[in-house]
Amino acid sequence: MTLLSVQNLKFAYGSSDLYKDTSFTVSHGERVGLIGGNGSGKSTLLKIISGELTSDSGKVVFRKGLRIGLVPQFIPTNILSQTIKEMVLDELNVSRPGSNILPYEVQMQLEMAGFNSSEFDTKVINLSGGWLNRLLLVRALCSHPDIFLLDEPSNHMDTESIRFLEEFLQSLPNQAFVIISHDRELLDRCTERTLILRDKNIYDFNSSYSSARKKLLELDEAAEHLRSSQWKEADRLRASSKQLAHWAHVYGSKKLSSRAKNIERRATRIEQSIESKPFEIRRKVELSDSIEEARLILRINELDLKYKISGPSLAKISQMWLKRGDRVALVGPNGCGKSTLLRTIAVSTGEDASVRIHPKVSVGYYEQTLMQFESDFSLLKYLENNCPQERTKLLGALAKAGFGPATWERKVKALSGGEKSRLAFLIFRLNKPDLLILDEPTNHMDVFGIEQLENELLKRDVSVLFVSHDRRFIANVGTRVFVFNNKKVIENY
Ligand SMILES: Nc1ncnc2c1ncn2[C@@H]1O[C@H](COP(=O)(O)OP(=O)(O)OP(=O)(O)O)[C@@H](O)[C@H]1O
Ligand SMILES: [Mg+2]
Repeated sequence: MTLLSVQNLKFAYGSSDLYKDTSFTVSHGERVGLIGGNGSGKSTLLKIISGELTSDSGKVVFRKGLRIGLVPQFIPTNILSQTIKEMVLDELNVSRPGSNILPYEVQMQLEMAGFNSSEFDTKVINLSGGWLNRLLLVRALCSHPDIFLLDEPSNHMDTESIRFLEEFLQSLPNQAFVIISHDRELLDRCTERTLILRDKNIYDFNSSYSSARKKLLELDEAAEHLRSSQWKEADRLRASSKQLAHWAHVYGSKKLSSRAKNIERRATRIEQSIESKPFEIRRKVELSDSIEEARLILRINELDLKYKISGPSLAKISQMWLKRGDRVALVGPNGCGKSTLLRTIAVSTGEDASVRIHPKVSVGYYEQTLMQFESDFSLLKYLENNCPQERTKLLGALAKAGFGPATWERKVKALSGGEKSRLAFLIFRLNKPDLLILDEPTNHMDVFGIEQLENELLKRDVSVLFVSHDRRFIANVGTRVFVFNNKKVIENY
């Protein structure tokens, strides 16, 4: 049974078309992965299906009474000030107006997702990224949807939360879902169909991620083979037309001359029918060369880590230090205080003796939520405000990072998740910080961007302190690992 059908969809932001007459359907119980490069239009597609945006042409047809459970890529700012209970009730009140007690079933769902009933009055803003995504899943579940639309729900999740998400998806009885993710493992385990959005087209495969990627590669190779044999045939025809034209001239034969022209026309027709190579957005994640002189860059000594000055202690960190060229991974479960530690270091003014950063060292801080980009400034203005450099240099840097002129006047808050990450790294490249403090930098990046970032970090030999749940990224980049657990931070040798 078809749940929804996307028909000949077109949508553009300004002059940038995102889709070419895109069509596909999703049926009852289907488990679909939606993948594609950063900025290719995946989130926009889910927003069109969920009714948040209207397409320019084409339409989405729904089965009558279809209920959609949405988990957005970025948390709507209006719910940050609500408590867990208020947020869930808000969702429920859509279907059962007037109620202000959490139904038993919802309490169970929250508890199964790992929330303790004593935490139901906790403000959403105080949840860590991974817990927030768990909560968004429960909220979506409350409306008993026929289909879930999930936009990068595994971002910010630690290994245990990702396992929860996988179990959640695997145990859905009948509901269909469309999940956007850059987590290859999760996609392979939980999906059975893959839509790849590339070059404004949807490629539809009846298999999970790895097999779909392989099939797309085979299609590309076959198309490349066809293209090259078509070019060869066109070349051959042109050569024979030229030869005939020569003979036509030598013998003064109109017949030969007309045959030569016919053959030339055939060659032109073949050339015009050759499909162009699919265009893949290639954007650069680049860093500057590290210029730090200091050997000991950061030293933490007897730090009592707190979320707020007056708040409870999250951990006591007796000793932690970072030398020039270290790439330190900080790992630990969601909510243990990793982001608080990074923020404490990043905003440290040197007045507190427990966090010492070498005075010559400048810090570049990549905040997990990317909240700093909730800005109404245009991309160019934002860059000018944050990187005091010549305009021509900024324009060149923007272009190199894949931000063409069409994007320069775009509001920063309208950039896609992956584009915001790239903007953060562009600012690092221009401002050349000596120490990078990165809080889950790969969350919104497509696989290509993650690989580029890995290469940059290795090539430039910068000093980095980073939090990540991406096991492959940690293994490829980290030179030392600190484990944050049970209110302690210990180096793992
Ligand atoms: N309100 C807007 N105004 C102008 N451009 C926008 C707006 N919202 C999104 N865009 C642009 O549309 C393109 C597609 O955005 P979208 O968020 O759908 O990408 P995505 O595939 O989800 O990317 P990511 O993997 O980075 O999350 C991007 O180039 C983005 O900058
Ligand atoms: Mg997106």
